[in-house]
Amino acid sequence: MFDLKPLENKSQEEKYKYMLFLMKGQLRGEEDALANLSNATAIIKACAENLNWAGFYLLKDGVLVLGPFQGLPACNRIQIGKGVCGTAVETREIQLVPDVHLFPGHIACDGASESELVLPLIKDDKVYGVLDLDSPIKERFSQLDKEYFIKFINLLNDYIDWERLIKS
Ligand code: SME
Repeated sequence: MFDLKPLENKSQEEKYKYMLFLMKGQLRGEEDALANLSNATAIIKACAENLNWAGFYLLKDGVLVLGPFQGLPACNRIQIGKGVCGTAVETREIQLVPDVHLFPGHIACDGASESELVLPLIKDDKVYGVLDLDSPIKERFSQLDKEYFIKFINLLNDYIDWERLIKS
């Protein structure tokens, strides 16, 4: 069982450190990628403050397809270059969006979202999808969030066989 008690009354940075600890335990104890990504979204939701949506889109046959997530039902498919997620894939760059209403072409899956952080999942120079985080608070995401979620996806990269996952 996951012990969430250590999160109580901690700073966001301490919660992120614990997020990495929990994720490492999950990845070491389980080899199924779907189980690992499902718990990854639950771990993020438990450890990151003020998120209304957290999840993965996986790049399958040139289209981003919805993967494991926490939050309201979301768009099933996003084309490369469309929205914040498709832009992260096209540019291969992290998208830190302080106000989604100012991002041209932003796709509103949950009307509550005000800011967004999207990280492309890249391994051996190939893009496999994105990790998408939404917040109902404008300017929710900072360099701190970026720093810890880079560590988070690097950890996933050490264990997840993306190539096999996108073919399943
Ligand atoms: N806002 C995203 C779409 C996905 S949802 O936020 C879950 C985008 O613009 O790509």
